[in-house]
Amino acid sequence: MLAIIGGTGLTRLKNLQISHRQVIRTPYGEPSGALTFGSINDHHVVFLARHGYGHTIPPHEINYRANIWALAEQKVKRVVAVATVGGIRDDMPPGTIVLPDQLIDYTWGRKHTFFDGGDKPVTHIDFTEPYCPQLRARILKAAKATKQKVIDGGVYAATQGPRLETAAEINRIADDGGHLVGMTGMPEASLARELGISYAPISVVANWAAGRGDSKHRIDLSAAEEVFLEAIERVHRILESLVKV
Ligand code: HPA
Repeated sequence: MLAIIGGTGLTRLKNLQISHRQVIRTPYGEPSGALTFGSINDHHVVFLARHGYGHTIPPHEINYRANIWALAEQKVKRVVAVATVGGIRDDMPPGTIVLPDQLIDYTWGRKHTFFDGGDKPVTHIDFTEPYCPQLRARILKAAKATKQKVIDGGVYAATQGPRLETAAEINRIADDGGHLVGMTGMPEASLARELGISYAPISVVANWAAGRGDSKHRIDLSAAEEVFLEAIERVHRILESLVKV
């Protein structure tokens, strides 16, 4: 079964015929909310709102382990993770949809592994390619089928938040090779890998990252709201097509 984790701007799935909601308890505590089960055009999907259904959980407080564990327990094999980002690369202005293929993790202090001692053997997952290439290809195909423009590939930088970055931090991330910046991409991706779930992100650029774009001195999150909402509409169309293939 396919799961969709929705971030800011995507707290529910359009056209989802909801069958039921289920609260799942995990050894790691409570997920961000109940899992919503349903179907889009007769294809089963599970949806989870990453920040909770009232959008109250900040990025560093999300129980990523509980979220991923709950999905694995429900036999989810694939997770498409939608998340809002700031654009760093010149060709990634607000409204751009990017399918990253790499990541750099700058987060700290998050509970980031299921392999944290006890009686479990130490396990080092391979993370050379952090995202599932087959699932990325499927998303790309769905984008093409619905004629939605997306950028194929990019380096996602995961920052701690909840504050936005300084201009110097963004310059450093760019020097490191980062193309877009968000706060929720890690440890979500590596936890999914630890449990053998295919995982791929869809990043929606909401704003220029700090110091980029025209407004060099502050990030104006409201300036691009309309373009962002329009991009979220395009994500809905991609997702509707994706569940069919
Ligand atoms: N930085 C980090 N995370 C974000 C941003 C940003 O500029 N925009 C949306 N999520």
